[in-house]
Amino acid sequence: MSVLTKSDSVVVSGQTPLFGTVTTQGSKNSALPLLASLPLFDEVEIANCPDLTDIHVMVDTLKYLGATGSFSDGVVKLNLRNIMNRPISEEFTNKLRASSLFLGSLLARFGEARVGMPGGCVIGSRPLDIHLNGFKSLGAEVDKGAGNITVTSNGLEGQFTLPLPSVGATQNLIYASVFSPSEVKLHNIAIEPEIFELVDFLNAAGANITFENPKTLTIRGVKRLNPIQFNVQPDRIEAFTLLVAGVATKGSVKVTHCRPEHLTAPLQALEAMGAKVEVGDDWIEASYIGPLKGIQVETGFYPAFPTDCQQQISILMALAETPSILSEKVFNSRFRHLDELRNMGAEIKINDNSAVIQRSENERGMIGCKVDSYDLRGAASMIIAGMVSEGVTTVQSLRYLYRGYEEFIEKLNRLGAEISYR
Ligand code: UD1
Repeated sequence: MSVLTKSDSVVVSGQTPLFGTVTTQGSKNSALPLLASLPLFDEVEIANCPDLTDIHVMVDTLKYLGATGSFSDGVVKLNLRNIMNRPISEEFTNKLRASSLFLGSLLARFGEARVGMPGGCVIGSRPLDIHLNGFKSLGAEVDKGAGNITVTSNGLEGQFTLPLPSVGATQNLIYASVFSPSEVKLHNIAIEPEIFELVDFLNAAGANITFENPKTLTIRGVKRLNPIQFNVQPDRIEAFTLLVAGVATKGSVKVTHCRPEHLTAPLQALEAMGAKVEVGDDWIEASYIGPLKGIQVETGFYPAFPTDCQQQISILMALAETPSILSEKVFNSRFRHLDELRNMGAEIKINDNSAVIQRSENERGMIGCKVDSYDLRGAASMIIAGMVSEGVTTVQSLRYLYRGYEEFIEKLNRLGAEISYR
């Protein structure tokens, strides 16, 4: 069943341990910026794209621009020779913040780009100031008016230091510079694995992007990019979510086709909590081997603990024998799932973006009830919470889940969960 037709809520039976092996999907956060770069190309084929609503929105946006082709069986195959420079209206940007990345790629191809103010998950204010200041510092004109942003330039040049290493701003500024008549240098860039994947992708098609040091890159403009076939890397966040599900349910889950080196901080946290973690070249297995211990986790830019794993680890914290402290340093409103966990019985005190989390004082632990999801990782975390609670949990608003997880319910059920669509 495609994510486009799945039900918006599920019923989760509690206390079902998960055991077994599961394959990691292609990375959402790699696939989206690759797709946003496609206006730089005439022809591409990208495989291992996960079947997610966000990926469908990106492909629909490219088709709206005039691309022809298909997205099926995980392969996006598009011809972009005749795309036009149309404004990316709020109809697209309200659905998906990543559509603001079209600013850079359309600017590079057409010298002008117009994009509606972006939407996305409700995880706090997500400004575009670094993207826009970057364009301006490199010589572009930026005009904000009537819900739109317009950027124009005859070719960027110069240097820009990102005030903080925003993933999206790094990507947008890379696209915008690919055809630049002279050199662009970006300092203090984001170094998430998805940035390296984008650089590899563009360079494989003929771009000239080099790392001066891990936090600085130089883009020397080229005339065109060649047609390319590319495989999206595995989704580190999905892999971690499945590992947490195994440990939380007192089971053991092995995820294959993943890159353990992308999950160093989250795996250290799992081990610190008392889980057994084993790692091979392209697999990770995490097992529950005894009561979990509370730990302190602070999210940050890569290679620190990712904000996209914060909600999942909070479930383990709500099961641990000793209290944990969880601090969210990247986004300012990513704790809404904690209210739901509290309704299930966990003891949680929130002070701004820091929370003390401990298990329920009730001997029965967390108790299933009706809970809502407010964002992508929160939705996955509420399903895990349902699997560890007594009784039955109904998790609602799964439209968020389908933005980032391809076959989450099916994968969990194959590992031993009892989850049914409503
Ligand atoms: C990407 C990921 C998202 C992840 C996030 C942080 C995709 C599609 N999304 O989002 O899953 O949670 O990285 O790892 O890859 N900021 C500004 N001004 C800006 C841009 C960002 O202040 O112009 C701030 C944001 O408010 C946030 C921080 O920088 O506090 C990080 O944001 P950023 O790295 O840009 O995240 P995204 O690229 O939107």
